[in-house]
Amino acid sequence: TQSLGTLGLRHGLHVGTAVNMDALNDADDPQYRKLASTEFASVTAENVMKWESLEPTRGSYNWAPADQFVEFAKRNRQSVRGHVLVWHNQLPAWLTSGVADGSISKQELRELLRKHITTVVNRYKGKIWQWDVVNEAVSDPWDTPSTLHYKGFWAQNLGPGYIADAFRWARAADPKALLFYNDYNIEAFGSGNAADDKTQFVYDMTKSLRAQGVPIDGVGSQGHLGTQYGNFDTLQVTAALKKFASLGVATAFTEVDVRSQLTEGVQAGNSEEINPRLQASAANFSVLMKACLAVRSCLSYTVWGFSDNHSWVPGWFDDPPEGLATIYDENYQPKRAYQELKSDL
Ligand code: XIL
Repeated sequence: TQSLGTLGLRHGLHVGTAVNMDALNDADDPQYRKLASTEFASVTAENVMKWESLEPTRGSYNWAPADQFVEFAKRNRQSVRGHVLVWHNQLPAWLTSGVADGSISKQELRELLRKHITTVVNRYKGKIWQWDVVNEAVSDPWDTPSTLHYKGFWAQNLGPGYIADAFRWARAADPKALLFYNDYNIEAFGSGNAADDKTQFVYDMTKSLRAQGVPIDGVGSQGHLGTQYGNFDTLQVTAALKKFASLGVATAFTEVDVRSQLTEGVQAGNSEEINPRLQASAANFSVLMKACLAVRSCLSYTVWGFSDNHSWVPGWFDDPPEGLATIYDENYQPKRAYQELKSDL
């Protein structure tokens, strides 16, 4: 039977996964490497291209893991989504503490960002299909103030102009890579309620950047969903993709997973509690896939890890504990979500 990657390419769609380099290099876990190499047409580094990993000490770059990742993709003829150039998380401590104690000025910070983008994009020039240039720059309704705004370290220190700067610097370093803005909670549009607001904000932002001639080529919707929030609606997800596409940009699902709360019954292995969750997870994976297949601008569909034994979810969402978020179980058995994606393709 054919891989998700092969099936996707028949539609001109790259089905990809995030890759965890520790799992990939674990000699006791050969199935991880096998599936990562064979099942997907595109790969994203889960962590090793983030700034804290690339430059843990100021001025000395730790390229080996990211280089190894890019080599892995090349050997397997996989396209690479570069992730991520500008984000408020997983920044090196020397950078955030330097800004906090005033030893790095705003002017110096902007110059450090320019150098970082230029250095990283230049190193992998010609090897990256899509770069996530700016990640998660926009607030959510539960933030303070609740009115949507540009949030986080970069907006606070440089003002929102850093976004246009980042795209321009990335374009200058690799004119051929597709440059993406990437965020969560922008997967749908058309409910008529507050769930539309962030999608609209990112649409307005992208429109204004394009009008200023800023080189933004795509909008990535992360797709971190949860079964406790109910099923996404295919028409609303399609509408969000079309809304972005109307600006002339590409789209992609960049980090899809669909987690569930691990109640006591689930942890005790009660199938009557597990099965509905697996089914709801599969349904949501499928909604995003159907929407992506329905909209020509949707270039890729990337899952954020493919197996429950190497998913970020249990480590991140632990109160209440959540899991079961990926398309293979912890023993690499394909789940319903995997079958559902196959039948969509
Ligand atoms: C996550 C990784 O999966 C974890 O291993 C890490 O500890 C934290 O970051 N949005 C993103 C990704 O853009 O980079 C995040 O990845 C998940 C949320």
